[in-house]
Amino acid sequence: MDTFVINGGRPLRGTVRINGSKNAALPLMAAALLTDHPLTLQGVPDLADTRNMSRLLKRLGIDVTHTPPEDQQPSSLNLSPHDPSPTAAPYDIVRTMRAGICVLGPMLAKRRAARVSMPGGCAIGDRPVDLHLRGLRALGAEIHLEAGDIVATTPRGGQDPLQAAHVFLGGPNGSTVLGTANVLSAATLAQGTTIIEAAACEPEIVDLANLLRAMGANITGDGSPCIIVEGVDELTGADAYPVMPDRIEAGTYVMAAAITNGEVTLENFPLDSLTAALDRLTHIGVNVEPETDTDTSPGNYPTVRVLSPRRLNPTQVTTQPHPGFPTDLQAQIMALLTLADGNAIITEKIFPDRFLHVAELLRMGANITRVGPSAMVTGTRELVGAPVMASDLRASAGLVLAGLAAQGTTTINRVYHLDRGYHKMELTLQSLGADIQRV
Ligand code: EPU
Repeated sequence: MDTFVINGGRPLRGTVRINGSKNAALPLMAAALLTDHPLTLQGVPDLADTRNMSRLLKRLGIDVTHTPPEDQQPSSLNLSPHDPSPTAAPYDIVRTMRAGICVLGPMLAKRRAARVSMPGGCAIGDRPVDLHLRGLRALGAEIHLEAGDIVATTPRGGQDPLQAAHVFLGGPNGSTVLGTANVLSAATLAQGTTIIEAAACEPEIVDLANLLRAMGANITGDGSPCIIVEGVDELTGADAYPVMPDRIEAGTYVMAAAITNGEVTLENFPLDSLTAALDRLTHIGVNVEPETDTDTSPGNYPTVRVLSPRRLNPTQVTTQPHPGFPTDLQAQIMALLTLADGNAIITEKIFPDRFLHVAELLRMGANITRVGPSAMVTGTRELVGAPVMASDLRASAGLVLAGLAAQGTTTINRVYHLDRGYHKMELTLQSLGADIQRV
C-alpha cells in the first residue's frame, strides 16, 4: 500500500494548472447511457474513480476510448454506446465508488430498467440514497430492493417511459448533489415537464445541465433550487464537451500555498464556484488575486495568484450546500486553522461525522476539541511531523497540508484514498518545491 513521506516546512512556489473536476466528470460520463450516439468529454481527470466509472460503463455496453493530453490539447474520453441490453451495474465495481449510483437515473430513463447495487456507507457517514429513489419514484419508476440491489423499471414494468412530475429533493441536510444529477438526467427523457424543487445548486449540476442541453435536452433553472425539464423523445451525443475545473482541487492548492506561507499561481481556476471558500480565506488573511490579463470569456477560467501572510487569523466556518462553504474543503481548512492565531470554529452541516482527520491532526500537535458537529480549533505555533492514517479522500488532503507545514517528517498511510480525487498530488506538490515522496 502506498505511503506519502513528507518533510515539511518548505514554502510552496510555482504554477499549477487545475484539472477537470472529478465530481462533475462522474455524472457527465454516466450521461452516455442516455443516448445511442457517441459522447466525447474533454479534460476528464485520470483518477481511480473516473477509471472505475469507465469500467462500469464498459460493462454496460459502452465503448470507452481515452486519448491522453497532447500539444496543449486536453485529454479526451470518447464514450460510444454499442449494446443497450445490459441493465445491471455489478456490485464488484459499484462498491469501489459510491458515484456508481450515477448510472441509475440515465439507465432507467433510456433502457427502462436498471439494477444497481445499493452503495454502502463510508468513512464520512451513512450516505443514504432515499432522496434519489424518492425522486425517481415521483417520475413513475417502480423500485424495490433485492439482495442489496436497487431494482427499478419505468411504469408498467418497463412498458411505458418515465412520466414528468413535481419532484421535491430536500432532505435533513439539504438537497442531494448526485440525487439531483440522477433525477435531472432521468427527467430529460420523461414524458412532459418535470419541476425539480430543492434541487442541488452545485456548479457540477450546472455542468451536467450544460452537457445535457448540448445533447438536445430542454432544461432551465439549473444552478437554482428549481430546475425545469421538458422531456424529449431522444438525446443526441456531444462532441468535445469540456469538463469544468475541479473547485475542490483548486481550493486544496490555495490552502497548500497558504499553510506553507508560499506564493503559488493557479491556472484554470474556477473562481466563481469558490466564493464562500474565498470569503473565509480572505478573513484568514489569504489573498487570492485574479491576474488581469487572462482570457475570461465563456469556457475560459482565470489564473489567480495566492499570497498568504505569516500570521493567519482564526475564523468561523460552516459547511453548507452550494453556494455555502463546501464540505469537501472542511478538512483542508481545519489543517490551515490549526496554525491560526486564536480560536476558530468549524461546523459540519452536510456530513456531521466527517471529522476522522481530527484525531490524526491531534497526533501532529494540533489543538482541536470536537463537540457534536462542531470542532473548536485553537491555533498552535507549529505542527510536528508524525505517522498518520488517511481515512477518506478529503481528510487525506487535510493531512497532506498539515504535513507540508509541519516540522519534521510526516508519513501518511493509505494514500489510495487521495488517488481517488487528486491526480498525482505528490508530483504537483514536488513541482512547487515540496519535499514529498510516494513510497
Ligand atoms: N442525503 C440523504 N439522502 C439521500 C442523499 C443524500 O439524506 O438520498 C444526505 C447525505 O447523507 C448528506 C447530504 O444529503 O447529509 C448531502 O449528500 P449528497 O447526496 O449531496 O452527497 P453525494 O451527492 O453523494 C457529492 C459528492 C461528495 C460531496 C457531496 C456534498 C460526488 C461524486 N460526490 O456526494 O464528494 O461531499 O456531494 O457536496 O459528487 C468527495 O469528493 O470527497 C465527496 C465526498
